[in-house]
Amino acid sequence: MSGFPEFDYHDDELFVESVPLKQIAEKFGTPCYVYSQSALTKAYQEFDAAFANRDHLICFAVKANSNIAILNLFSQLGSGFDIVSGGELQRVIKAGGDPGKTVFSGVGKNMHEMRMALDVNILCFNVESEAELISLNQIAKEMNKIAPVSLRINPDVDAKTHPYISTGLKENKFGIPASEAERIYQSARLYQNIRFIGLDYHIGSQLTELEPFIQASKKMLNLLDTLQSKNLEIEHLDLGGGLGIRYTNEILPSIRDYVSTLCTSTHQVKQRLLIEPGRSLVGNAGILLTRIEYLKHTPTRNFAIVDAAMNDLMRPALYDAYHEILPVNKNSGEIKDYQVVGPVCETGDFLGHDRQIGLMSGDFLAIMSAGAYGMSMSSNYNSRPRVAEIMVDKNTTHIIRQRETIDQLFSNEKILSH
Ligand SMILES: Cc1ncc(COP(=O)(O)O)c(C=O)c1O
Repeated sequence: MSGFPEFDYHDDELFVESVPLKQIAEKFGTPCYVYSQSALTKAYQEFDAAFANRDHLICFAVKANSNIAILNLFSQLGSGFDIVSGGELQRVIKAGGDPGKTVFSGVGKNMHEMRMALDVNILCFNVESEAELISLNQIAKEMNKIAPVSLRINPDVDAKTHPYISTGLKENKFGIPASEAERIYQSARLYQNIRFIGLDYHIGSQLTELEPFIQASKKMLNLLDTLQSKNLEIEHLDLGGGLGIRYTNEILPSIRDYVSTLCTSTHQVKQRLLIEPGRSLVGNAGILLTRIEYLKHTPTRNFAIVDAAMNDLMRPALYDAYHEILPVNKNSGEIKDYQVVGPVCETGDFLGHDRQIGLMSGDFLAIMSAGAYGMSMSSNYNSRPRVAEIMVDKNTTHIIRQRETIDQLFSNEKILSH
């Protein structure tokens, strides 16, 4: 048993749904990301079902995985989207997603992005500063539009996660303190081209406890109370994303428990609930498939040098993140303590430290839980073309992103003519 339902061993061979991963590696080459359509669908449906009769909208955080086929799948399941750039908005549209179910987060939206979002009538701008609000009001006025807005509240709550992905503390760059937000909502008449429709928070990512969500919701409800007592109509509460996934042996709340906690902590209000899950929808639905190029044994360490690297999956190098690494075929070489590393010229280029596995060169490895913040954070560092992405649906494989070519990599560069 691998512990990942859609990626499991049949005898000693690792499959994704009904397809052997070795077959995918041989057909499409490595490295490549492989996703299970069933795992993606089940995760979305689990979120949706957990809301039961509560009016809600799930807005998939596109930054976690922006492949157009994945956005299209979520859109068909009824999902909305949380975007943080004009590029992500264009992806949503290209994927057939509904701008009317799309919220726009982020501290630095530029004028061009605001215009684009106003033009297609997105559901809501999650505004993160007064300066941004002034700018949005001005642009909406020029376009003769009314911009729907939630202020993103910074609830000053400790999400107890990695500092780089903690966003709800007062020292973080995100959101507006509740007291300041109250003042801004109450000066709504200054913003003739803004309609305040919601309240929003997002306190961080890979949260393993529910308490921070409860605390943040409480602070949001206090503000809601104050605003309602002043006759300000608020239509929705956006409770952000952040639910963690299992990378190793973390004990995590289930999707059902998480949603039910959000519903309970807001049970006294009638507003529609929005959430912006990213990682918990796609993280465990994808792996990075890689091939061992060389085994290198030094007097102090054993290295498995694989063809995937930090540019393909940045999380280990960036956050010292742990990803389980499973052999595609068990019982290969002698079991040793391996450092699994890539070909990039950085000591930080590793995918896993101290893994006890039996390996031979030419073997394939699956880097697990790589569906979120994997491909979407990848780069071309060391002039490495970005990898292919494959979607598996039962026994069928679909290529949903071709491997980048060297020509594509160079296509925007030019030698100066002398
Ligand atoms: C505003 C916002 N919403 C939602 C998310 C998604 O978070 P997660 O992938 O942890 O669910 C993020 C990611 O950090 C975010 O910045």
